[in-house]
Amino acid sequence: MISDIMAKEINTQINRELYSAYLYLAMSADAMNKGFKGAAAWFAVQFGEEQGHALRFIRYLQDQNAKVELQAIDAPKRAWKDLLDMFLNTLAHENTVTANINKLMSLAVLEKDFATQGALQWFVNEQVEEEANDAEVIWMLEMASGSKGALFMADKKLGERK
Ligand SMILES: [Fe+2]
Ligand SMILES: [Fe+2]
Repeated sequence: MISDIMAKEINTQINRELYSAYLYLAMSADAMNKGFKGAAAWFAVQFGEEQGHALRFIRYLQDQNAKVELQAIDAPKRAWKDLLDMFLNTLAHENTVTANINKLMSLAVLEKDFATQGALQWFVNEQVEEEANDAEVIWMLEMASGSKGALFMADKKLGERK
């Protein structure tokens, strides 16, 4: 049993996770258009992860016998300047997702909703990993800046993500 407000906030978060999925799918398509097959694969993996996040919240609502209420997903941008621009946007987006997860956690603490706090802890940890991964890719792309060979290698490395 969770509060109506908590159920509503989690439903909003499900929409944000699905928007994240859609955003990374758009980046995957744009990376492919620009000839970066590795980055396209990296974002395709992330597209799958974000759907997994949405499903995890959906299952949590269902376990708590709360209604899943899906909302319209906003259209993402279609093109970015370059790979670095995509990953800078990715990190900025994940920073806002982290802030949203923290807000949900604050509500769960306020409501003494221990079950939701437990469910959210997985997402708190996941966000640390997401931001670290993005920062590492940004570092790699900044190092590669100006060198086509290094950019080629960076794209190859991105393609290794499972
Ligand atoms: Fe997510
Ligand atoms: Fe992740």
